[in-house]
Amino acid sequence: MAIFASGSGSNAKKIIDYFTSVPDIDVDVVVCNKKGAGVIGIAGENNIPVVMIDRTSFQDTSNLVAELEKRNINLIVMAGFLWQLPESFVNAFKGNILNIHPALLPKYGGKGMYGKFVHEAVLENKEKESGITIHLADEFYDRGEIIFQASCEVDPNENMESLAKKIQLLEHQHYPKIIEGFIRKQNHS
Ligand code: GRF
Repeated sequence: MAIFASGSGSNAKKIIDYFTSVPDIDVDVVVCNKKGAGVIGIAGENNIPVVMIDRTSFQDTSNLVAELEKRNINLIVMAGFLWQLPESFVNAFKGNILNIHPALLPKYGGKGMYGKFVHEAVLENKEKESGITIHLADEFYDRGEIIFQASCEVDPNENMESLAKKIQLLEHQHYPKIIEGFIRKQNHS
């Protein structure tokens, strides 16, 4: 698989660690669009190559797709990758692109709904629960088929920081296992 990430890379780290002990599934490459992102160091520590992309090369897509095909990538795992996917990229990996979103979609998704903006909106609306969604990704933000959701309570005295922690814990707990289950299911269908 290829992990697409541009943030701190905490999910990427959990995924990399998890698949270290799964002999038949590998994280082969990390794709990143942000210089200095935490995920670059995490990939380095694990001897995983990093491919840096910019907007122009990503829009054109053909070079990136060729690079990924060269490495026999058949699953794209997005973990904190915020750019909208070009249609040509989605077509190249149709049905094999996963994303994780820090809320219970279809609520709190769409353009601009990421990181603290999601949690802020959840708190503002006095939601009683939030959670995570793992879904297939396409060229529209946060819209693909939902594969898995897990929820947590939002306490009356919850703040941004405490909610973000709860959500991150859920992400780390579930994403690697759901990725493995997805791959095994694909291989048997
Ligand atoms: C996660 O909250 C994920 O849901 C979202 O981006 C964040 C990435 O965090 N898509 P990290 O870089 O893995 O810590």
